[in-house]
Amino acid sequence: SKLTDVTLTSYRKTKDELIQRALMDNDFMKHLEHGQILTIMDCMYPTSLAKGCCVIQEGDDGSTVYVLEEGMVEVTKQGKKLCTIGPGKVFGELAILYNCTRTASVTALTDIKLWAIDRQGFQTIMMRTGFIKHSQY
Ligand code: CMP
Repeated sequence: SKLTDVTLTSYRKTKDELIQRALMDNDFMKHLEHGQILTIMDCMYPTSLAKGCCVIQEGDDGSTVYVLEEGMVEVTKQGKKLCTIGPGKVFGELAILYNCTRTASVTALTDIKLWAIDRQGFQTIMMRTGFIKHSQY
């Protein structure tokens, strides 16, 4: 076959690349330093939930930031559907970044696979790099 006929298929799906892309795609995370992204990637652990499970309950104290690896979730606020989220997206970041309660509920529409990082680790990564940066001046 001619070279021009070849269709290239990209196989991504490594943990690091999925998480890095998800962070870069998120309005609140895309400005992180490269070192912070690397550390978040390092600290994220895998978890999974069955279809129908509540991942996040609106109004709760937030303890975890997630990256969705596989499956679909639905975001609702006061019972109203806001959107669905698919693989490669961050969610659950707002309560941790803004130190507020969960702004919406997130429910698994399918069995899902997630990468997770706990609030304490996430905030430490945010602060540590900020501190190093600050101390350079
Ligand atoms: P958090 O408030 O921690 O928990 C609920 C999550 O749902 C929130 O973080 C966001 O990641 C997500 N979320 C809230 N509102 C919206 C929205 N309007 N569209 C998409 N995602 C949302």
